[in-house]
Amino acid sequence: MKKRLIIAIDGYSSCGKSTFAKMIAKELNYIFIDSGAMYRAVTLYCIRRNFIGDEGVNTRDIINELSSINIDFIFNPDTNAHETFMNSENVEIEIRSLGVTSHVSRISQIPEVRTRLVELQRSIGVYKGIVMDGRDIGTVVFPDADIKIFMTASVDIRAKRRFDELNAKGLPVDFEEIRRGIIARDIADENRDISPLRRAEDAIVLDNSRMSVEAQMNWIRDIIDKKINAG
Ligand code: DC
Repeated sequence: MKKRLIIAIDGYSSCGKSTFAKMIAKELNYIFIDSGAMYRAVTLYCIRRNFIGDEGVNTRDIINELSSINIDFIFNPDTNAHETFMNSENVEIEIRSLGVTSHVSRISQIPEVRTRLVELQRSIGVYKGIVMDGRDIGTVVFPDADIKIFMTASVDIRAKRRFDELNAKGLPVDFEEIRRGIIARDIADENRDISPLRRAEDAIVLDNSRMSVEAQMNWIRDIIDKKINAG
């Protein structure tokens, strides 16, 4: 049987990490895990429970209820994709809302939230054959991952991609606002005290500013083949 790998894909927001990770998983018949979706699901839970208010975040209550938040990824044959479930409810669409997006950085800075989600992520990875994308997958979650990719692209290109994506969904969007949001998230991701976004020393950088998805797939195929054939 072919060697099964753990592939970690980290990088800045709106770089196309999930699209890339999904395509790799599909091609290899691996499991794809969007770790950002897990932070988003916890954030949605906190919004619904009113743990996030004008005065700040009620960290104590969040920590107390962490063990009540169950997150699963369930395959939907209609969309041909895994969707995020929180406590048995399909939240795939709601976790992408602007409300969740604007609070998720704060929730993902809580050390106890990270500890719990990292534990969950590792438990999913024990069987290998997994592609996981996020910010700390190659540095914290799977420091021994077989392949580590660090993705980046220019701010303007990321903002344009995000703008087009939201536009296509018919959502009202303002390019400058999206651009500012991306810069703010980069700063939050790189500067949080716990598990900040960093390139692992052994990660390969992929700047996809001027690369099509096909070009990225050709690039990674070569790396995967070498890894699998190396035994
Ligand atoms: O990739 P994304 O935009 O869906 O991630 C949502 C948020 O979660 C983002 O603010 C960074 C955070 N995140 C994290 O801190 N660690 C991860 N492994 C994945 C995401």
